[in-house]
Amino acid sequence: MLYSEKVMDHFTNPRNVGTMENADGVGEVGNAKCGDIMKIFLKINDDVIEDVKFSTFGCGSAIASSSMATEMIKGKPLSQALELTNKAVVEALDGLPPHKIHCSVLAEEAVKAAIKDYYDKNGIAYDESLFPQEHDCEHCGE
Ligand code: FES
Repeated sequence: MLYSEKVMDHFTNPRNVGTMENADGVGEVGNAKCGDIMKIFLKINDDVIEDVKFSTFGCGSAIASSSMATEMIKGKPLSQALELTNKAVVEALDGLPPHKIHCSVLAEEAVKAAIKDYYDKNGIAYDESLFPQEHDCEHCGE
C-alpha cells in the first residue's frame, strides 16, 4: 500500500478546508517542484491560533499534509506553530512516499507565511531566520 491509512483518511476527509473572512494572517505559497499552490488562513487571538483554514490546488498528499498540519497548530501558540516542520507532519501521517515528501513542505511553508503576514500586518518584530527565504535568486543578488 503506497499511502498510510492516516493519509487516506485526511485526503478523503480533510479537516479545516475552506477560506476565512477577516483572517489575521494569510499565507500563500507555491511549490517550485510541481507548481501547485497552497493558502492558509489564521484567526489569532493573544498569540494563539484560534482557528485555521486551508485551500489548495495541490495533490492528494498536499491535501492530507495540510489537513494534518492545521490540526497540529490549531489552539497552539504561534511560537509552537512556528516549530512545525514538514517532517513532523509526515511522521504524524505515518509517512509519505519519498517522491511526495515535497508536497508536505507546502503545508509548512504556508503556515509560516501566514504567521509572517500576521506579524507584518501588526508591526510585530520577529527573527527573520525563522522564515524561509522568499527570494533566493543568485542572479539579482536580492
Ligand atoms: Fe504538487 Fe503534491 S505534487 S503538492
